[in-house]
Amino acid sequence: MINKELLTIVETIQIAKETIKMRLQGSEKIKHAKPGQFVHIKVGNEGSHMLRRPISIADVNQDQQIVTIIFKVIGSGTDHLSKCHVGDVIDGLIPCGTSYPIEQITMDKALLIGGGIGVPPLYYLAKQIKEQGVEVTSILGFQSSEHVFYQSEFAELGKCHIVTNDGTHGFQGFVTDVIDQLDPTFDYYFSCGPTPMLKAVSSKLQDRNGYISIEQRMGCGIGACYACVVPTNDGSNGFKKICKDGPVFEANEVVL
Ligand code: FES
Repeated sequence: MINKELLTIVETIQIAKETIKMRLQGSEKIKHAKPGQFVHIKVGNEGSHMLRRPISIADVNQDQQIVTIIFKVIGSGTDHLSKCHVGDVIDGLIPCGTSYPIEQITMDKALLIGGGIGVPPLYYLAKQIKEQGVEVTSILGFQSSEHVFYQSEFAELGKCHIVTNDGTHGFQGFVTDVIDQLDPTFDYYFSCGPTPMLKAVSSKLQDRNGYISIEQRMGCGIGACYACVVPTNDGSNGFKKICKDGPVFEANEVVL
């Protein structure tokens, strides 16, 4: 069930170029947030940036009732959010959307493929499946070295390969190039990132079991406004709402 929470900022720090990590403390209800879900955060004051921004959940500390979000400053809303301080209280709907169905699937090895601001939700996923005994390999793509974050955090959970578009850190190229080079073994893959990357990944791994998480600008965030629809891939001319039926979908379930 989605709750409207008043979340107090307990930490805010820039961890890479234009990239902010924020830790938010709320009620005990936020403990139920799962990997893949997001917080729909209201940014700004009445009359200014009134739209909410969907920001994926990067981690949850259940004991302290703290949720970690990582976001990129890409417009006035996220710019406003980035300027908030420790002690400020923000309004968030949490937890929104679907999660990676890790309780319903059995696997020994997982491949995580993240791009840019699609990397954070994979961290909470990696932590949870590692706890279940799954061997985790991560391939994380960024524009350049100054955008890289969470390399050591992922490396603590398994093999972590970084790729940058300009080659200033790790492999040069795209995450799909690294999949080719490493040819990793896995039972399921999980991917989150920009749509072109998800398209390339799901096309390359079309015969494999996997889940993708779609990043999209949203309106209501709770399935009421149809601002986030995406066509289904079953020939029915149907559609899914990314905010409610997603953001996590089975790979090839929707047309990207
Ligand atoms: Fe309103 Fe998805 S954002 S239906």
